[in-house]
Amino acid sequence: MPGKMVIPYGKQSISRADIEAVRRAIEGPFITQGPKVKEFEDALQAYTGAKYAVVVSSGTAALHIAAIAAGIKPGREAITSAITFVASANCVLYAGGKPVFADVLEDSVNIDPADMEKKIRKKTCALIPVHFAGRPADLEHIRRIARRNKLIVIEDAAHALGAEYKGRRIGCCEHSDMTIFSFHPVKSITTGEGGAVTTNSKELYKRLLLLRNHGITRDIAHPEGEWQYEMRELGYNYRITDIQCALGLSQLRRLDGFIKRREKIAETYTRELSGIDGLKLPGAGELGKSAWHIYVIRVRTGRKNVFDRLRGAGINVNVHYIPVYTQPFYRSAGYKNVSCPVAEKYYSQAITLPIFPEMKEKEIKYVVKALKGALGVH
Ligand SMILES: Cc1ncc(COP(=O)(O)O)c(C=O)c1O
Repeated sequence: MPGKMVIPYGKQSISRADIEAVRRAIEGPFITQGPKVKEFEDALQAYTGAKYAVVVSSGTAALHIAAIAAGIKPGREAITSAITFVASANCVLYAGGKPVFADVLEDSVNIDPADMEKKIRKKTCALIPVHFAGRPADLEHIRRIARRNKLIVIEDAAHALGAEYKGRRIGCCEHSDMTIFSFHPVKSITTGEGGAVTTNSKELYKRLLLLRNHGITRDIAHPEGEWQYEMRELGYNYRITDIQCALGLSQLRRLDGFIKRREKIAETYTRELSGIDGLKLPGAGELGKSAWHIYVIRVRTGRKNVFDRLRGAGINVNVHYIPVYTQPFYRSAGYKNVSCPVAEKYYSQAITLPIFPEMKEKEIKYVVKALKGALGVH
């Protein structure tokens, strides 16, 4: 097909300055456990407005140690969204607990606070709302429910670095105990693989530091000598390298520009695609600012046909996400009868269009044209 393009749904943006930062780090004396780790943490803490940040090897590692720090363990449950990446639920299993799925809201595809509240039981100890697509969930509402039921709140903000809720940046933890981020290449900023937890609690911060590094500390009241370290609990090696942190620091300086570009692309899609019968477009939300991690449209009928046509045109559309409890692993692990009707309807209609900072105007136009063609609109 003449003029056929190949467009991914998401992609990192790496500048000369990013490459230079990585080069300097790899040539330095410490390529891991060096000064860039704390520098990146300080920068994230300053950016989000939280008191503490702990950077780790992935968003999944961040969720795992946050889940343990939240007290999730055998016999306990945590509630997350039916529409999310599997990691939001898997972290509860890693910690020995049981994930419970709440349905989503039709409009925002964020967790439905009313359904979440219905699913709280004596065993529930944490809520894990996800800022789906980068659009903030209603944190004040979720916090009220958590307070009433004495629950910890972990925000899964893998999609939402750079988003804002009621004038404050996601990650400030004003309405939660911890927030996790992912720095996978399709996310707001990247370190290759990487993640972080932010918190305002010194106690949680210290626990997260321990869990990142085998449960080992050198912070000992009366050491026999400088060699001494203590393993206080079973932790992990979830460390991230100085090379990755140098990239993260450089990327963080570019974050506001990335978000502006994502906003611009979303605006163009919304302008060009509004008013088409049978097509529902995503909103930025009235609670703040979306980070526009993904732009998900909903096609009332014929989703598969539209998806296949777009893929056929070289546009690497995707579906975010298959309801987690329908995965074969979950179905065979006791989730056979779970059903979240709004999530299932959403899933049957969703298509993720490409959005990433370096997306060119002609690529946006190409996607719009191909989509209109697939929908039979001209
Ligand atoms: C909502 C959500 N949570 C957690 C993760 C896990 O992050 P990572 O891939 O960095 O482990 C992802 C990654 O895609 C995600 O989308």
